[in-house]
Amino acid sequence: MDIIKCIKADHDEAAALFGELARVAHDDRRTSDAMRLAVRLAVALKIHAHAEEKIVYEVMSGATPDLAAFSREGKYEHELLDLLLDRLLVQRPGPELVAILKVARHEFEHHARVEEEGELLPALAACLDPGRGLHLAHDFLYERRRIRPAIERLVGPAVRGTHDGLRTHHHRRW
Ligand SMILES: [Fe+2]
Ligand SMILES: [Fe+2]
Repeated sequence: MDIIKCIKADHDEAAALFGELARVAHDDRRTSDAMRLAVRLAVALKIHAHAEEKIVYEVMSGATPDLAAFSREGKYEHELLDLLLDRLLVQRPGPELVAILKVARHEFEHHARVEEEGELLPALAACLDPGRGLHLAHDFLYERRRIRPAIERLVGPAVRGTHDGLRTHHHRRW
């Protein structure tokens, strides 16, 4: 699997989790399902954003001026999504969760589907020879595995905090 397919597979997984969470986000009888899905979504997207910045944006920053500009903007779009994911993690089902989820999903669709898949990945594919695409996929998957425990530690307390009635927001520290 080359790097383009790896990124699309992650986006598809996140899109499916957004869909599952949207089905229970309004229902206060489904709190544990909603929280479990919010954790899976936040872990998946935080891992993805980290590996993408470290491996893919890094290559783009030294490629064409357009790709370099996108890699700069993309980091801020990741920060926006990260903030929305942190809000999702501490919200029980109800109108507030529905609202946060709608904004997060919109940001994700625009960033991942319209910009990355629509513009950035085709431009990146044109710059990479097939061997380089496979090599980057290897580095991307390695980075995902490496960062997973740290992100799971970070997301876990945000959720446990809700059970204790705390509403703390956790920011990336890696
Ligand atoms: Fe991204
Ligand atoms: Fe992405």
